[in-house]
Amino acid sequence: MKGKFITIEGTDGSGKSTQIELLMKYLDEKGVDSVLTREPGGTPIGEKIREILLDKNFKEMTDITEAFLYAASRNQHVREVIIPALEAGKVVVCDRFIDSSIAYQGGARELGADMVMDINKFAIEGVMPDMTLFFDLAPEKGILRKKKEHELDRLEEEKLDFHKKVYDAYKKLCEDYPERINAIDADDTVDNIHKKVIEYVDKLLKE
Ligand code: TYD
Repeated sequence: MKGKFITIEGTDGSGKSTQIELLMKYLDEKGVDSVLTREPGGTPIGEKIREILLDKNFKEMTDITEAFLYAASRNQHVREVIIPALEAGKVVVCDRFIDSSIAYQGGARELGADMVMDINKFAIEGVMPDMTLFFDLAPEKGILRKKKEHELDRLEEEKLDFHKKVYDAYKKLCEDYPERINAIDADDTVDNIHKKVIEYVDKLLKE
């Protein structure tokens, strides 16, 4: 495919949103044809699935249901948004993708990376990120940041132990896919982090 697929990953409160905003502004100023999208969501069906996933009333949701719902939202997104944009030669920036499922459902919910990968094989239809940026921030700090911003959703509300498992699973992914995933220290100034983001993105765009 002609375009480039960049995914942004991190634990809750790792500062992804701020950095994504700055990155999109940078790409725009550079005249790069880019689209920003997110998971779960990114399509009308996906946004409905997102509402179910983040609803605090659904305490009874099983881990497997959760994994399949994220994957369902992903397949709709891949078909409806990601593939067409990549075919049109665009740079697609996606706030969370398959690594989130491996970290949250595989790691924290303990379904295991293999099972989550198996479910997602159907969802992604062979589309993997060209590059992933992982915002590396201790989970304790991330959750504190989120609490200051807004009332926590179903996943954010999980115990610290859950977020630690998410973080450990991300670290393992960084070890397993060093070619694809770049970790960026997110305990730094917005400006310094942005500079690092740009370095990685520029390198990819030159390839
Ligand atoms: P969101 O509000 O988008 O969180 P953030 O701003 O931190 O990205 O909510 C998405 C939540 O869903 C977040 O807690 C991570 C979780 N998630 C999974 O558990 N599995 C997945 O596959 C994806 C995409 C997200």
